[in-house]
Parts: sequence; structure tokens; C-alpha cells
Amino acid sequence: NDSAGRGGRSSRSRSTRGRSQPFFIGVAGGTASGKTTVCDSIMQRLHDQCVVMLSQDSFYRGLTDAEIENVTSYNFDHPDAFDTAAMLDCLNNLKAMRAVEVPIYDFTRHQRSSETRRVEPADVVILEGILVLHMEALRGCLNMKVFVDTDDDLRLARRIQRDVAMRGRDIAGVIEQYTKFVKPAFDTFVAPSRKHADVIIPWGRQENVVAIDLITEHIRMKLQQPELRRIYVNLEVIPSNYQI
Ligand code: C5P
Repeated sequence: NDSAGRGGRSSRSRSTRGRSQPFFIGVAGGTASGKTTVCDSIMQRLHDQCVVMLSQDSFYRGLTDAEIENVTSYNFDHPDAFDTAAMLDCLNNLKAMRAVEVPIYDFTRHQRSSETRRVEPADVVILEGILVLHMEALRGCLNMKVFVDTDDDLRLARRIQRDVAMRGRDIAGVIEQYTKFVKPAFDTFVAPSRKHADVIIPWGRQENVVAIDLITEHIRMKLQQPELRRIYVNLEVIPSNYQI
């Protein structure tokens, strides 16, 4: 979940099956809710398909020296913390079946690495992040919207463990940031965005196997309909109830 290289993964390297556009899935939820685990489970079930995963975290803006000096006052949970234009550009390129270079974000330095990760076009693109269902422009790109619903106490406990072990933080700092920024932003932006979800997955200590099965079966069904989708695209009239 937290290696600096997170942000672009592929479940299969071989070429796509000739779809003219990928199927986009958004996976949102609070911090440490298990979004990445949900995405990994979907990718494992779709191992025979061409699937890539992008993380909204990859598109965090790098902080200036002045912002780093005062990092405890920086709100990483506000939509403005992200370079959403770059993220949309990336999604539009993948939509046009063009490869993209995804930034690599380093949580220990609050900066982007000088290197990027190449993500090839795919039949399925999974985008995960705290605000992917909050941002209207992102929602507009998504064919399927998922919200991972995990108990707040469990998320805080996981967040403390993760940030201390993997993001170079101390316990007091994590709790202060959580109280000052993470929890208020969850209440303002993340929790209300669940109303945009097609599927809300109750998630806890154990994987929700039924929910993952239902989601992957739906994706498989959609992947079997490329010709139907093309007919609609060629007609340039897409019925309002038809989701591509
Ligand atoms: O992986 P997860 O969804 O938890 O990542 C989002 C969280 O990362 C946000 O809640 C934000 O507070 C945190 N973050 C951080 N330091 C950064 C960038 C993001 O603590 N430099």
C-alpha cells in the first residue's frame, strides 16, 4: 500500500482485447479503510484480464520548502492537496488507450520522486483514493463507483500502525493530524461521497468475499459487451440507462 512505487500496477502484461475504451472503476473510502486491499482482491479475481490500478495518492502536489517547514499545518485531506488536472489528464490518456507516466509520491518527504511509473493502456482501470467519489470531474470518468465502508475506530488504529511503520511518523503526530485534518475532512468530503456509490462494501478485518465476487462478475459481464458498446458509440446516441 505504501511503497513509493505505489500508483500504477498491472495484473497482466499482455495486450488488451481491442476495446476502444477501458472500463473505469473508482474505489473510495476513508483513510486506512482497506481500499487497496479491495482493489488487489478485484485484480486477483481478474488475473486473466488486462487490469491496471492507479492511486489518487500518486497525484499529491509536492510541498514547497516553506510548506514542509510548517507541515503540521498542512491539510493533506482537502481536495486542493491533489493535482486533479494531472490526474484527469492521465485518465483521459488511458481512456484513449495511450500509455501514461504516473508520478511516484513519497509520503516520508511529502514530495514527488524524480522518477515516474509507466502505466500501459488496459481493459479495466481501477482508481482508488479518499476523494475519487467526492470530485465531480473524476466521477464523470467512472463506469462503476465503489465505497469501502470501514469502522472509524478500526481505520484510526490501522492508520497509526501504518504511518508509524511506513510513513516515518510518530504516534502523537498521527493522532494530532487525524484530529485536526483527517477526521473533519472525512466528515465533510469522504463520508458524504458514499451517496454517489453504486456499491457500498462493508469492510472490516475480513475480506467481504461476496461483494468482491459480485463486483468482478459485473466487470466480466461488461467486458463481454464491447461490440454492443461500439454500436452505441457509432450511433452517437447512447441510451441514458446504458453504462459503458
Ligand atoms: O492511503 P490513504 O488513503 O490513507 O492516503 C490518504 C491519507 O494520506 C490522507 O488521509 C492524508 O492525511 C495522508 N497523507 C499524509 N502525508 C502526506 C500525504 C498524505 O499523511 N504527505
